[in-house]
Amino acid sequence: MPLLLRHGIRFSVFLAVVLALAGCLREQSRISFPANWPYSADEAPVMAQAGMVVSTDEYASAVGSEVLKAGGNAVDAAIATSFALAVVNPEAGNIGGGGFMVVRLADGTTAALDYRERAPLAASRDMYLDEAGELSEASTVGHLAVGVPGVVAGLWEAHRRFGTLEWQALVDPAIELAEGFVVRERQARQLRMAGENLQIFPATAATFLPGGKAPGVGETFRQPDLAATLKGIGLNGRDGFYLGSTADLIVAEMERGGGILTHEDLARMEAVWRDPVEVAYRGYRLISMPPTSSGGATLAAMAKILEGFDLGSLEYHSAGHVHLLAEAWKRAYADRNTYLADPDFVEIPVDRMVSEEYGAERRATIDLDRATPSLEVGPGLGPADDGETTHLSVVDASGNAVSITTTINSFFGSKVTVEGAGFILNNEMDDFSGRPGYPNQYGLVQGEANAIAPGKRMLSAMTPTIVVNPDGELLLVLGSPGGATIITNVFQQISNVIDFGMGVRQGLNAPRIHHQHLPDEVQYEPGSLTPEVMAALEAMGHTMDERIRTGDVYPYIGDVQAIMRLPDGSLAGASDHRRGGAAVGH
Ligand code: GLY
Repeated sequence: MPLLLRHGIRFSVFLAVVLALAGCLREQSRISFPANWPYSADEAPVMAQAGMVVSTDEYASAVGSEVLKAGGNAVDAAIATSFALAVVNPEAGNIGGGGFMVVRLADGTTAALDYRERAPLAASRDMYLDEAGELSEASTVGHLAVGVPGVVAGLWEAHRRFGTLEWQALVDPAIELAEGFVVRERQARQLRMAGENLQIFPATAATFLPGGKAPGVGETFRQPDLAATLKGIGLNGRDGFYLGSTADLIVAEMERGGGILTHEDLARMEAVWRDPVEVAYRGYRLISMPPTSSGGATLAAMAKILEGFDLGSLEYHSAGHVHLLAEAWKRAYADRNTYLADPDFVEIPVDRMVSEEYGAERRATIDLDRATPSLEVGPGLGPADDGETTHLSVVDASGNAVSITTTINSFFGSKVTVEGAGFILNNEMDDFSGRPGYPNQYGLVQGEANAIAPGKRMLSAMTPTIVVNPDGELLLVLGSPGGATIITNVFQQISNVIDFGMGVRQGLNAPRIHHQHLPDEVQYEPGSLTPEVMAALEAMGHTMDERIRTGDVYPYIGDVQAIMRLPDGSLAGASDHRRGGAAVGH
């Protein structure tokens, strides 16, 4: 078996530099995809010279691109794109949710902003347990599932620190879209897929099923209540959401539906600057989001385990390659699920988890020929699922870069729309360990550290990330939706580029797999692995689980939005075809 366990990294650093440079110069590598795989290995990315925005929606990317053309920097463009996503991607990118932003300025300054939702002050540890001690549906659907939204506080704080254009100018394009936009295929599909979910609460039906049906392609979708909310935010900034009439509408909605979020919760919401997680991977630097997201720390832990294997020497998606990924990921997720949580409430061992020494320790427990059962790595059981999250990546003409992932958690969040305010509220409370040791909706089995407490932020998997090449220059800006799969989606794109020399488009088009420790199975996209590879993996002791579309769940894994800076300074952008966003540059 051509696996080389390397104790030093000098050769692999050299190899990776050679491979990545080769990958930058060609837009695709030697890698081919399985015969029945739907995406091409040869497709070209979108190219730009002066700036680029890639997001989960074409309208939103165009809004950000216009801001760049008007002289705004990457943070300005990211703010405008975020607000636009709140309008055109309401199932995922919403001012009723929370998010994380990673920034790297052209001078090398890095920053990470945590605007994750928080548990309301009236929340309690066992609030979702029924009389039998089982987790109830209340953590996922309805008013009790709602965490205090953080998006407006986050965008306001990012603008205060880094913005250059007027705040109002960054909200205006979203107001215009809320007043009416022509529905395209992606939006029509998402509304169609939501089906009966949009009929649970009357204000949601009134907002998203005008005249009793979801707007179809070519129809104009108007959201007047949302436009009014955005006007308040444009005029009054943060306070336009957390105080005044919008706050009154949110609290009235809570009172109507038995929720516990109060004016005090809203008034106290604030975004927090944190130090990004930064680690080396084969000479490259990964800059990502620290807790309250688990994304950066878990990504870094995976990188530290896998850095000791020469992945690039393996056949892409051979049994040996998939085995190593799955074994490293299950170990990293076991630690994530046990230890990570809101750092303002719990002591968490991030430094140790991402260290060389710990990576080597974990790597040494990997058997190159046999799968280690997850129960020998850590505790728990359950199924896995995708979430409704959205991502945007921006690079401006100066080389400033921003990576933002936001979420309302499930598809259309809690399904609750704030009556009169026109936006969906999150169901982020399910990202806590509502019952420690038992699975949440993603099948993630999380521990005591992430138990519910008043004012605490729930652990996330969101992984907005920026990668710098060995010369200290920007290489990649990326992130993805995908619930528990977000971290492995981001890792695969990084490894596709660094280890396998793929270009940005080819990397996104490549088939994806996933392992999250529990359930103990390698999930794979339909058509992504050959029958021979699957048989070899099963013989090694892996349980294989094909992603199958059920209801509103996608059969594919993730929806990566990425920009890659090429050696000549031009920008190559790609939005995943899996759900259908867009790269827009100039
Ligand atoms: N709601 C998905 C996440 O934050 O990981």
